[in-house]
Amino acid sequence: MSKNKVHLKIRRQDGPDKPDTRRWEEFEVPLLPQMNVISALQQIQLEPKTKDGKGVAPVAWDCSCLEEICGACTMIINGAVRQACSALVEEIAPHGETIVIEPMSKFPLVRDLVVDRAKMFEDLKRVKAWIEIDGTHDLGAGPRESAEQQQVRYALSRCMTCGCCLEACPNVNDSSHFMGPAAINQVRYFNLHPTGQHQRTERLESMMQRGGVAECGKAQNCVEVCPKSIPLIDSIGHVARDTTQHMILRWLLG
Ligand code: SF4
Ligand code: SF4
Ligand code: FES
Repeated sequence: MSKNKVHLKIRRQDGPDKPDTRRWEEFEVPLLPQMNVISALQQIQLEPKTKDGKGVAPVAWDCSCLEEICGACTMIINGAVRQACSALVEEIAPHGETIVIEPMSKFPLVRDLVVDRAKMFEDLKRVKAWIEIDGTHDLGAGPRESAEQQQVRYALSRCMTCGCCLEACPNVNDSSHFMGPAAINQVRYFNLHPTGQHQRTERLESMMQRGGVAECGKAQNCVEVCPKSIPLIDSIGHVARDTTQHMILRWLLG
């Protein structure tokens, strides 16, 4: 352990269909000012050698915005799911402790720390997480929205589809189809929009299907890990209530 070096222990695998290559590798890179986990990974890329001096393939990871906006760099760091770009080395390993890095486990592995989050984007399509517009011609001003409503919706809008909440959710697993809290939150977000309300019924219908809101076990792990502090439990509660009301109305009206 040295305070001038960053010690990293990284879970590696050469490809999705190569589970036999699953292994840990350890690296040591120079500690730089204001370093985050992404910059430590970049240092490995400059000279990909384990701490024993063995040359290896560069570690693969994903990133884009480098300011906790895109969610691409989400991984498990010292056992907690979070974004690597906002994980400062001096905060997570103040005395030169080893930083343990693994890929998220609830998504298909692509390579090393890269996973495929396509499931989340497919679920956004399932719940129609958008506002439909009729052509591109000028329709004039849209419906007014109160400042209070804007504030509620702003909090819900901050989701970056990072996957932390799915990683933490016990009901998202290999034997379930539960879409997880991020898509449910988007149902609330778009159903609150004055124009988005036109697709409210379709969104609630999607919540009644396999993988919908009824599969939430209310363990509340999701809200603990959301880096954007989105009130996921409130959203799940609202959507569950609206879905139940919609089911009853549908039954009554035949
Ligand atoms: S409340 Fe629990 S079961 Fe429901 S989405 Fe959150 S973590 Fe998953
Ligand atoms: S709800 Fe939060 S944890 Fe879940 S995907 Fe969105 S930003 Fe990430
Ligand atoms: S690179 Fe975009 S959130 Fe980290």
